[in-house]
Amino acid sequence: VTHARQRSPHTSIQVVAHRGASDDAPEHTLAAYRKAIEDGADALECDVRLTADGHLVCVHDRRVNRTSNGRGAVSALELADLAALDFGSWKDREESPDWDPVPGELTSVLTLERLLELFTEVRATGRPLQLAIETKHPTRWAGQVEERLLHLLNRFGLAAPPADEPSPIRIMSFSGRSLHRVRAAAPALPTVYLMQFVSPRLRDGRLPAGSRIAGPGMRIVRSHPGYIERLHRAGHRVHVWTVNEPGDVELCAELGVEAIITNRPKQVLSQLGRI
Ligand code: G3P
Ligand code: CA
Repeated sequence: VTHARQRSPHTSIQVVAHRGASDDAPEHTLAAYRKAIEDGADALECDVRLTADGHLVCVHDRRVNRTSNGRGAVSALELADLAALDFGSWKDREESPDWDPVPGELTSVLTLERLLELFTEVRATGRPLQLAIETKHPTRWAGQVEERLLHLLNRFGLAAPPADEPSPIRIMSFSGRSLHRVRAAAPALPTVYLMQFVSPRLRDGRLPAGSRIAGPGMRIVRSHPGYIERLHRAGHRVHVWTVNEPGDVELCAELGVEAIITNRPKQVLSQLGRI
């Protein structure tokens, strides 16, 4: 029994499913997002990349080699090439007790458009699900990723949330420039500045202008818990990735972070006393 369990339920920490419930189902597939929704996640996380013909797809790596039965860079493949691949079979070979291989759409390449359809279906039921979208390779495409992303969000009516309600969408990136582009075109969308390490100029808890949310990796939290306090003192919210181990969840809860991004939403919700 952990400390987090002994206290009252942590209802204030948002539990974000990283690439869907990616411990139980193949990351970035409809199967993984459906599982996360079923598990009760408060929010979903996804990475987006541009295909050669300009579609945004949810793929983490530069290449499809690890997570599909194909090879090559996403940016060199067209959507039709990706649609011919299977993004689930690699998981069949992993030891994953909750994963029963399923064919078809559930494990085909996931476009951001399809994920937004699922997301809006869930929101239409009244559930306040949120979605955190991370822009990948924004330097290489010099603005195109953000342009396509905002175009798509606009179509779904999600690019300009009202100021008096929490935005269903937030945009995350390790690239300050990418976040700057997003804010310039869609000032009402919250942005999350992701960090693998703390750069010397940000040690005092400041963030690059415009971001109100910091996204430190769990390694930073473990080695510099005082930095989380500095971020809070500077008025920022803190969303930590990727938090899978009970001890890490407990540390995040003790530090009062606002969101935990995890491959195991069900386990984290249970540890926080939410289910
Ligand atoms: O949620 C942020 C986290 O996903 C960043 O790292 O490599 O998993 O995209 P990565
Ligand atoms: Ca990510």
